[in-house]
Amino acid sequence: MSDPKPKPNPKEYTSGGSRTMTTHEFWETQPVVQLEDMGDTTLPEGPIQPPTLVSEVRQEPYNLREDYEWITCDMKSDDMCSEVYNFFKDHYAQKLNCNVHPSKEWLMWALCPPGYHQSWHVGVRDKATKKLVAFISGVPARIRVRDKVISMANINFLCIDTDLRSRRLAPILIMEVTRRVRLKNIWQAAYPSRDVVSRPVTTCQYWGRMLNPKKLIDAGYADLGERMKMSMAVKLYKVPDAPSTPGFREMGPFDVFGVTEFLRNYLSQFGIAACFDADDVEHWFLPREDVIHTYLVVSPETSEITDFCSFYTVPFTISDSDSRNPKNTTVQCAYSYYNVVTQTSLPKLMNDVLTVSKQKGVDIFYALDVMQNASFFTELKFRRSEGAHLHYHLYNYRLGSPLNPSEVGLVLW
Ligand SMILES: CC(C)(COP(=O)(O)OP(=O)(O)OC[C@H]1O[C@@H](n2cnc3c(N)ncnc32)[C@H](O)[C@@H]1OP(=O)(O)O)[C@@H](O)C(=O)NCCC(=O)NCCS
Repeated sequence: MSDPKPKPNPKEYTSGGSRTMTTHEFWETQPVVQLEDMGDTTLPEGPIQPPTLVSEVRQEPYNLREDYEWITCDMKSDDMCSEVYNFFKDHYAQKLNCNVHPSKEWLMWALCPPGYHQSWHVGVRDKATKKLVAFISGVPARIRVRDKVISMANINFLCIDTDLRSRRLAPILIMEVTRRVRLKNIWQAAYPSRDVVSRPVTTCQYWGRMLNPKKLIDAGYADLGERMKMSMAVKLYKVPDAPSTPGFREMGPFDVFGVTEFLRNYLSQFGIAACFDADDVEHWFLPREDVIHTYLVVSPETSEITDFCSFYTVPFTISDSDSRNPKNTTVQCAYSYYNVVTQTSLPKLMNDVLTVSKQKGVDIFYALDVMQNASFFTELKFRRSEGAHLHYHLYNYRLGSPLNPSEVGLVLW
């Protein structure tokens, strides 16, 4: 928590190096902290626009091209969920050769938390072909900003068919999901982006820890490094065969209330943080195979929870033509979620997390540098993922000054 504050530097906030502060035609019209207001600490903290009456919110959807239509996606319907899954598989490429494809179970978990609104799962269909061509979603979340707990929407999974990019469809999707959020009397949102579109609340960095270096290097996903032999890499990234912390066990349904209290206490120290109630904890943390994995350390004397860790898993496919492996390779990826320690050191607990991840077939483990995560990166051989930043933004809420990732108790994806 003692890193120097990020200094506002407008030049850092250009996108792809070529766009400047004045090119965000859409975002400049939105109630977000504008890039030119970055250094201005006199602007009040709080909502940028006051709420209106819900009856005054635009009732009809925004106009789309005539050959497209809006749809509301019922993610609990297997057909719809498959359609969104296949759409992401084809179009949610993070890099040209690397496609993230969350499983259907993962999508259901991420998009259907307690109190979710189906109307916030927004698709665009081509009327003639009936193909899904774009998607954006929101889920409800209570987020504490300083001392205020605000009901927000977490906006995510904006995705447009690769053939329809750069046609200004994204702003229409963002406006439409915003309209639907406002119809539920919600006026703020949190969303991540890879480009800076307005002043971010914070900019996080992904760090990655190889668990299966041979597979990652063979697939062309990672480099062996100068003077490193494969056998050395395998040895370097080996993890223990079993967790070593006494009392380390998987979370069960009977832990929900204890975990809720434990997380609430821990997250209260951060400038911005998730607020979980017991229903949220049940949904977001109870283990689900190949989706979310949560472990606790429980004191043998008092049966109290002393430490807590969690991660979610998402596969991606690498199809690099330069790869030594000519076939597509599916890589199992884990992402650190929320971790709390009171008795065990965080590096020690995370070493157990790497161990159980490896047992579950995870090939690479990622963590953002939020909360206290930076304290285990070096010791546990995480490497900074070049270019893998995630900017956290708030919609219609101004924070006086940006936060360091270590002041953020919120995991966005
Ligand atoms: C992200 C994606 C939807 C952008 O599509 P696009 O066709 O390039 O964007 P459009 O031309 O329709 O719209 C551009 C406008 O939308 C904004 N925008 C695009 N993606 C955005 C995002 N993820 N968050 C916030 N704003 C975004 C741009 O900043 C721009 O507005 P501006 O001129 O004010 O800066 C598309 O590249 C995609 O589907 N990528 C794969 C999935 C993905 O990476 N999603 C984002 C995860 S964070």
